[in-house]
Amino acid sequence: MIDKVMNMEIISKKIKVLTIDDEQNFTEEIHEYLQKTGFESYTANTVRPGLAILKKNEIDLLILDIRLPGANGLDILKQVKEEHPKLEVIIVSAHGDMESVIQAMRLGALDYLRKPFRHVDFQIAIERTQKFILLNQKLQMMEEKNSLISQNLSEKIDRNFVGESQKIRQVLDLAITASEFSDTNVLITGESGTGKENVARIIHYASNRKDNVFCGVNSSAISESLLESEFFGHKKGSFTGAISDKQGFFEITDKGTLFLDEIADMPINLQAKILRAIEEKKITRVGETHQISSNFRIIAATNHDVDQLVQEKKFRLDLMHRLNTLHIHIPPLRERNEDIEPLMQYFVNDFSVKLNKPEMKLDKKIIVALKQYDFPGNVRELKNMTERAMILCKGDILNVEDFPLKTKSVVMESGEVEVLNLQENEVRLIRLALRNFMFNQKKASDALGITRDSLIRRMKKFNIKIRKDD
Ligand SMILES: Nc1ncnc2c1ncn2[C@@H]1O[C@H](COP(=O)(O)OP(=O)(O)OP(=O)(O)O)[C@@H](O)[C@H]1O
Ligand SMILES: [Mg+2]
Repeated sequence: MIDKVMNMEIISKKIKVLTIDDEQNFTEEIHEYLQKTGFESYTANTVRPGLAILKKNEIDLLILDIRLPGANGLDILKQVKEEHPKLEVIIVSAHGDMESVIQAMRLGALDYLRKPFRHVDFQIAIERTQKFILLNQKLQMMEEKNSLISQNLSEKIDRNFVGESQKIRQVLDLAITASEFSDTNVLITGESGTGKENVARIIHYASNRKDNVFCGVNSSAISESLLESEFFGHKKGSFTGAISDKQGFFEITDKGTLFLDEIADMPINLQAKILRAIEEKKITRVGETHQISSNFRIIAATNHDVDQLVQEKKFRLDLMHRLNTLHIHIPPLRERNEDIEPLMQYFVNDFSVKLNKPEMKLDKKIIVALKQYDFPGNVRELKNMTERAMILCKGDILNVEDFPLKTKSVVMESGEVEVLNLQENEVRLIRLALRNFMFNQKKASDALGITRDSLIRRMKKFNIKIRKDD
């Protein structure tokens, strides 16, 4: 794809010119001049062979006498413009025939020459037309290049989102719905590394906002004193350091998407200002008084429990209501085991190319072991451990030993891998019991052989939440 783009830049075609005029001296003179100055020149002294040349070759410019014997030049002009809309035409007219010239220009001729003309007039007309044609060609090339790049990007994004589990398919379905309603704000929740930013990009690039900006902002990465000016922009001189007028994120993302990453880190006073901007779709730059409209769409993300954030008064309830019109929750990787193998295969292929390694095979035991693993860092952790293993692996088969998990696991005689870590098993059993008894804590604690209070204490300790859709 990129090669295609590059090639387009190298190819610069010769401009093809056809001259139709009944005076042979005239066509010969023009032919000689055009050939000398680097054009590809064709000539005809009557209409019919002229039109045949036009049909066969991709002519860029036609120099047409509108006083041809036995033919009406204006009719010919009309016909060729209809059949070849991209063809440019310079007409040649007799002195005093201004009426025809005006009509020809109305029919789309680019320029005209009046006979008898001076050589320099002809030269100027040709050079001007040449510039125009080259500019048009460049413009067309840019358009093609842009569409190739965005096509390339969207293909890449499609391929980048890997997963086969029912849960991840539901996530993708919701993301597609979100892309269709491109004015609706979306909140994406999920543990660190589950793919929140990935999903935000998918929504943006599948929506009709895709040709405009996707701007990702993590407010914890910006010093608090600058936050307001970064979001709303500022007027030159409105504070020390404001050396020129500046657009803020809301303005930049007009017709695009503003991705607010980790909203839990957003200071509470900024939340009030952001709420107003969302409600009014208007912002005021720092130091200005007038408002500027901006048609932005917000996708927000957090790896915190949003209800808890609101309860603890770290996040405004009214702003949360504005942000989570559509809520997409990405389950942790440990709860969608089926995705581990396809994800891993995808990363292995990807890193084979990036690290210039031969195609590597996966020992199936790795998948069995990884399915037992807790993956606190989710997909990002899987990606990183695959890269590390591929860098260190000497042969062309990746083995369990290439994946030093934080968990101590053993391979049983049956080939099954068992985790020996007590705490991990405790967490796993608690989750299993809860799910098995539809989150009924009494039944789950009975099955585990502990009291309900003890179960609740452990759930708090290990940060196990009850979520019925898990
Ligand atoms: N389904 C998936 N298919 C392919 N790659 C994925 C998938 N999910 C996540 N990734 C990859 O995992 C890495 C982490 O994803 P991303 O940055 O989107 O996570 P996040 O939820 O925003 O994490 P954090 O909360 O830490 O910001 C990225 O390199 C991303 O490309
Ligand atoms: Mg992220």
